Amino acid sequence: MIKGEKIRLDIHNILYTIFKSNKNLKSTSIEKIINKHKQEDISFLNNVILNSMRYHIHVEKIINSHIKKKLRDHEKILLLSSITQIVFLNFKEYAVINCSVEIAKKFKIYHGLINATLKKISRNKNYLKNTKINFSDLPLWFRSETKYFSENERDKFIKSIIQEPHLHIVFKSEKKLFNCKEKVIKTSDLSGFLESKTNITNINSFKNGDWWVQDFSSFFPIYNLPTKKKYKKILDTCAAPGGKAFQILSKGINITLNDINKNKIKILESNLKRLNFQTEILNKDFTKFRFKEKYDCIIIDAPCSAIGTIRKNPEIFFKMEGPNFNELIKVQEKMLDNASQLLNKGGLILYMVCSFLRRETESQINNFLKKKTDFKLYNFKLEKQNSNYDKLIKDNFMITLPDNIMKQNIDGYFAAYLEKIK
Ligand SMILES: C[S@@+](CC[C@H](N)C(=O)[O-])C[C@H]1O[C@@H](n2cnc3c(N)ncnc32)[C@H](O)[C@@H]1O
Repeated sequence: MIKGEKIRLDIHNILYTIFKSNKNLKSTSIEKIINKHKQEDISFLNNVILNSMRYHIHVEKIINSHIKKKLRDHEKILLLSSITQIVFLNFKEYAVINCSVEIAKKFKIYHGLINATLKKISRNKNYLKNTKINFSDLPLWFRSETKYFSENERDKFIKSIIQEPHLHIVFKSEKKLFNCKEKVIKTSDLSGFLESKTNITNINSFKNGDWWVQDFSSFFPIYNLPTKKKYKKILDTCAAPGGKAFQILSKGINITLNDINKNKIKILESNLKRLNFQTEILNKDFTKFRFKEKYDCIIIDAPCSAIGTIRKNPEIFFKMEGPNFNELIKVQEKMLDNASQLLNKGGLILYMVCSFLRRETESQINNFLKKKTDFKLYNFKLEKQNSNYDKLIKDNFMITLPDNIMKQNIDGYFAAYLEKIK
């Protein structure tokens, strides 16, 4: 097999596994396949895989307008990655078609059909580029969770799902940002979007531990943590891979980190090492574990559908199964309940999810406040006024769909501060 075929065969197998086995692109078994390739091929692989998932609904429409018979999963996935490359990534069609035909032979797919369909699609690619999708084309589970969406919200969300994310980074200090040699579009005195598209592990200031990658939306709640309050002891209940914890550690505040996942703790530890931070790390299930101590602030960056990160994780719509909401809602509820018992009077729980779905966000908090009369919602306010960010705050929460600031894309997100008043 020639190099292009080998890479495309891996692309096919990865997409097939994500689709059928409900795996994430970042799962260990998939990362193993990707990491055996050279760096320049890894960029190609990621580009095709991510965009095939981003455009899979568009491509399904294109396939349906060209082929009437019901396709098998291997046929569908092979056409998906090939059509994405030809129509949406503008790759040379003959290379794509030749490789796809060879892969079809390998899987005993009727390669005549693949060849003829891709040739026809190539001839119409300029027209097909404009294929539009509607809200009704999105997965049923998502439509049921967003019945309350306005027309505007539907349009905005649909537009966001095919966009690529931008890289937002957070510095340990204002000085480190000031001294940074890279071009950064500043979002605060500590953060900004990195303009360079080079591999970050080759950038000196990254190697030196001056900054880490963290989406603007996920940076925002800790950046605005009310400074009126004093936090001597903080617990981060779901800490890995560490962005929020690094924000606290860079202020020199004492924080205990916890996460249930041993592999993710390893990543957290390696990040802490690079950034030259040291602190206590626990490996407990926060829904069950009874911590002995009490805290002034408890951070719950809870497991959730992650739908706010759809640009980075397009597999959310591509996988055959949707998120297990009943399980997620229960875990979030238990975490809030456990945190309420470990908090000192006057302390704050910071509840966050990279989701905007009502069940995981506002309803979760309103149910908590109904049960816990010793808590009240502490208004989400900007520590430093910036009119670019007003749109992210509503009803005293931070809540946003995938959006943009300064023409750069940011994740959909939710955050609420809960104060223990009694
Ligand atoms: C959204 S991520 C946290 C991101 C992290 N706060 C950051 O800023 O990089 C959610 C984390 O919750 C952890 N988690 C899930 N269930 C948990 C549980 N029952 N107890 C503790 N951690 C849990 C996951 O392993 C995952 O690392």
